[in-house]
Order: sequence, then C-alpha cells, then structure tokens
Amino acid sequence: MSTAPDSTAAAAGLRGVVAAQSKIGDVDGEKGILIYQGYDIHDLAENSTFEEVIYLIWNGHLPKSGELEDLKKQFQVNYAVPAEVLEMMKTFPKDANPMDVLRTSISALGFYDPSGHGTDRETAVKTAVKLTAQIGTLVAAWERIRSGKEVIVPDSSLSIAENFLYMFQGKKPEADEAHIFDVALILHADHELNASTFTTRVIAGTLADIYGAVTGGIAALAGPLHGGANTNVMKMLKEIGSEDKIDLWLDKALEEKRKIMGIGHAVYKTEDPRATWLRKYSKQLGEKKGDSSWFNMSQKIEKSMLDKKGMYPNVDFYSASAYYLMDIPLDQFTPIFAVSRISGWTGHVLEQYGNNKLIRPRAEYIGERGLKYSPIEQR
Ligand code: COA
Repeated sequence: MSTAPDSTAAAAGLRGVVAAQSKIGDVDGEKGILIYQGYDIHDLAENSTFEEVIYLIWNGHLPKSGELEDLKKQFQVNYAVPAEVLEMMKTFPKDANPMDVLRTSISALGFYDPSGHGTDRETAVKTAVKLTAQIGTLVAAWERIRSGKEVIVPDSSLSIAENFLYMFQGKKPEADEAHIFDVALILHADHELNASTFTTRVIAGTLADIYGAVTGGIAALAGPLHGGANTNVMKMLKEIGSEDKIDLWLDKALEEKRKIMGIGHAVYKTEDPRATWLRKYSKQLGEKKGDSSWFNMSQKIEKSMLDKKGMYPNVDFYSASAYYLMDIPLDQFTPIFAVSRISGWTGHVLEQYGNNKLIRPRAEYIGERGLKYSPIEQR
C-alpha cells in the first residue's frame, strides 16, 4: 500500500496550514486581533501583569489572588540559577552572541534539574516555573559577565520585570520603566504557532523534556525573520542615521528588494495590536529621555511603508527604539523576547504533553525516482 502523502502541493512556509489545536492564543490577521485564552491583548496590556498572564496561559483562566501570590512566590524562590551554570558562562568568549549564550545556558540548566525532565503535568509545570524564573537571570548574568561586571544576585521581593531590569542594569528600575517592560513582556508572551513555538511543540511531541524544547525554541527565535528582527530594526535606524535620509534610503532598499525590518507579518494584514502599545511606549520613552529622534524616524518609515507597500509595523518595529531608550544593548533585544516568550513556549509544551501525538508531517517529494547506483569511478 502506498504511503505517499496527498499530492496537493504544500503551501510555501506552511502558510495557512492548521497544524495543531490550541486554547492558548489566537491571531486574527485580518482584523488585527490577538487573544490569550479568550482575553484580548489590549485588555491584558491595560490591566494585567506578566505573572498573571503566565498563569492565564498555563491554566486557561485568570488567577484568584491566592493563586497569583502562590505563582509569584514560586518564581521568586526560583530566580537563582545553579552556580555551576554561571561559572560555565564565565568561560564563554566575551564576544559571543547573547542568543547563542542563552541557548547553551538554558540547555545546561537541565543538567542540574534531574527531576525536571518528566512530561507529566505536575513535573512539567514545576520545570516551566523554573525556566520562566531563570531565563531572565541568565540573560542578565551574561550582560554583566561580558562587560566584566559582578553578576547581580536576584532580588526575590521583585516581579519578573523589575528583577530582570535590576539584575541587568545593576540598579532598581524606575516605576514607569518597570511597567513598560512588564507590558512588553505581556505583549510578547504568546503568538500561536509562530516558528519558535511550533519548534517547541515538535520537540515536545517526541516526549523530549522541556529543557530540550525551549532550547530549540531559542534557536528558532534567533533568526532575523523571527525574533532577531528587533535587533535589526535598531541597526537599520542607526544605519539610516537621521530622518532626512529616510526617503533616499528606503527607495534604494526597496529597489534592492531588501526586507525592511520590523515591517510586514506572516499573519497580520493590518496593524499588529502589539505595535500599538510599543509605539506609545517608544514615544513616551523618547520624550522622557529627551531623544525623540528614533521614534520620529520610526514613524516616518511606518508611514512610507504603508504608502509605498501597504505594509504595517509588527511587534519588533517599536520595541527596538523602546528597548534602546531603556539602555538595553541591541543584541540583547532578542534574548529579552525569549524572557517573555518562554511563557508561551512552556504553555504550548504543557498543552502538547497533555494530549500528545508525535508531530510527523510528510514532504511532497519533488526529486527523481528509479535512478540506478553507479560505481564512483564511472560518474
Ligand atoms: N520589507 C519589504 N518588503 C517586504 C517585507 C518587508 N519587511 N516583508 C514582505 N515584503 C514583501 C516581499 O519582498 C514580497 O514581495 P514580492 O511578492 O514582490 O516578492 C512580499 O512582500 C511577500 O513577502 P513574504 O516574505 O513572502 O511574506 P511573508 O508573509 O512570508 O513575510 C515576514 C512575513 C515577517 C517574514 C516578512 O514580512 C519579513 O521578512 N519582515 C521583516 C522581518 C521581520 O520584521 N520579522 C518579524 C516578524 S514578527
């Protein structure tokens, strides 16, 4: 019996293919709506906290106050990473890319958590808590290590957002910046079957452990067409240099068929709702820091891309200038994306484990058949 797949050609990049059922999140690309477990992203960004959103993503309902307090406590007691992992990181080349460092250090955490590899819900949730608590500690530790500074011990009285900025910058964040950062974490938490989340589900579908699934997710997120775009947006703004150079630069870039970073989306055909918030924060931070040039440049590029190509900014477009104005180095933008997306990745892994089926699609074979082997000297 033939096991050949259906002969219909696969959509390039699997666009529009439904590859899993999920209750975690949904994207309506036509209307520009993003929901997590039924709640609109605008509602969550306006009213919630990152910890509350993580609870929602993992459990399917908003927490009661005791449930939220309990989850926060679990994160706080798990902020610290094993000393061995920090020692290992100190041996890495100081110019290593932070996403490479994060991928390797997250994977190494698994060595020190021998009981955390199970795929039953109880074990998997415990591991998800540890990973979510510790990923920010790793990102911040690398920033300190590579700049020859003392690694800051996490402060278990702080939220994930506050603690991250504290460990990263070595001082407690101002309340408005901690809030902006917290909302940025909410906005990046989940986005349905994006490339990195799909990767984590494929890995989890083999019943490999969460450490492996998240390591794979980080590898996928690093690419410039995915999470790597935010770093490239800021590089682009710096390359252009000033507002008056945009028209010429953009015309040339489009003529050369260059992709304008932070613009366009595989699903959204209108404004990405996350960009609405990040635009506002980029403006607010620009005014606060007395440097609105990056925001103004971004606005002009946004308008030109809409006029010329009918394309809208995505989540990465304004997060770039917002993070930059918070004194975050460019190559740490994507690791920060991971500090948030860990919640969606682990949520999807829990969902996959809860109703697992090995993910094993077919390829549409377009090669030759029936060729006969010839000895090497006769080729
Ligand atoms: N700048 C200029 N042109 C773009 C573009 C961009 N950012 N994004 C897409 N296009 C153009 C393509 O060149 C292509 O044009 P063509 O038909 O003349 O060849 C057309 O739009 C379709 O592009 P395609 O890459 O097939 O669309 P997609 O749906 O697969 O793209 C992205 C989605 C996100 C990969 C793409 O928009 C992109 O590369 N954006 C920049 C990177 C980025 O910001 N990534 C973060 C996503 S959250």
